[in-house]
Amino acid sequence: MERADLSPRKPRILLAASGSVAAIKFGNLCHCFAEWADVKAVATKASLHFIDRATLPKDIHLYTDDDEWSSWNRIGDSVLHIELRRWADIMVIAPLSANTLGKVYDVALFSDRMKTVGKIQ
Ligand SMILES: Cc1cc2nc3c(=O)[nH]c(=O)nc-3n(C[C@H](O)[C@H](O)[C@H](O)COP(=O)(O)O)c2cc1C
Repeated sequence: MERADLSPRKPRILLAASGSVAAIKFGNLCHCFAEWADVKAVATKASLHFIDRATLPKDIHLYTDDDEWSSWNRIGDSVLHIELRRWADIMVIAPLSANTLGKVYDVALFSDRMKTVGKIQ
């Protein structure tokens, strides 16, 4: 009988850059996380103005919105953001722009309101 591999796997981190000027350091951030975690990287369109792809670790692919659409053609094809959500243990947004923070806040607010609606009904 084969023994199960009991060694813990590395944490899987989905590292996301948004369009703060601090995204110029995104390559450094990827290198730091990659020392102890499996990392996949995603970037907003705005953040790409600041990120130098050459500074990223060679084995880390930087996904963008274009990848989402080029990998999907018809119903039944896998959807990149869902696959990334399944893969990741956690998503870290760094740097976090005010714009993306606002979107996160909106989602949290919407979810909270839905819970309230659920209690009223
Ligand atoms: C040169 C420059 C620097 C910027 N720096 C920041 C920043 O440090 N923090 C921030 O919240 N937005 C900053 N912005 C604005 C964002 O890039 C802009 O709001 C963008 O729409 C954010 O999009 P995203 O959240 O989808 O990445 C900067 C814009 C420019 C042109």
